[in-house]
Amino acid sequence: MNARVRLGVNIDHVATIRNARGVAYPDPARAAVVALEAGADGITAHLREDRRHISDADIDHLAAMLRERGRPLNLEMAVTSEMLAIALHHRPHAVCLVPERREERTTEGGLDVAGGHNWITPFVEKLTANGSRVSLFIGADPLQIEAASRTGAAVVELHTGAYCDAARDGDAEEAAKLLVALKAAAKQAASLGLEVHAGHGIDYGTVAPIAAIPEVAELNIGHFLVGEAIFIGLGPAVVEMRRRIDAARAGA
Ligand code: PXP
Repeated sequence: MNARVRLGVNIDHVATIRNARGVAYPDPARAAVVALEAGADGITAHLREDRRHISDADIDHLAAMLRERGRPLNLEMAVTSEMLAIALHHRPHAVCLVPERREERTTEGGLDVAGGHNWITPFVEKLTANGSRVSLFIGADPLQIEAASRTGAAVVELHTGAYCDAARDGDAEEAAKLLVALKAAAKQAASLGLEVHAGHGIDYGTVAPIAAIPEVAELNIGHFLVGEAIFIGLGPAVVEMRRRIDAARAGA
């Protein structure tokens, strides 16, 4: 059981708001500082192939700022040679490999590691040798977890999106089924020596059952926090999420 669950705050959608106007604000690096000062352990950013939110310049600024502060950057990226070159150049603390389709609104499913083991493994090897901890974003599927462990990745991030959607839609039966699968996946991954992270779609209402899974060491949360920031500010939103994570872990 990891006593404390780390919180990575994903600041992509600060860039979404900025890019809606093509101006320089709001600045994702400023949001990153606010999130860290409010209790985030690290910052997560997804450099998408189409650069719809985070830009190359954002990654330059975030990497430099976080290095200076000694805080971790978790770079989410597709498994492509372009992204590999960028990650090798910046050497972020962590790289999370995600599936990416240009037409999707967000990362809709997990990586097919079982089907793509042969081409994913060299990416894991190169990034790890360069000093980044590699995480694979996968669904709660025993075959994917097994395959993830064979790539040599240190971490799996379990996709919580379907669970969060079912819980928010009030489909208690489906949510309960998906939570059981997430718990089993976390246990299996940990038994294979993988560190377990979780993320996607998490809000105040869904965070507790996920944070209470004993093997979960880190949560990555973005869209909800940036939305909540409109009403109460990013700092207070991070503080409240942190409070709920800690309470869930303490069994409250
Ligand atoms: N983890 C991964 C791998 C993701 O792709 C995302 C979305 O970019 C998140 C966590 C954060 O999801 P959300 O923005 O829905 O909280």
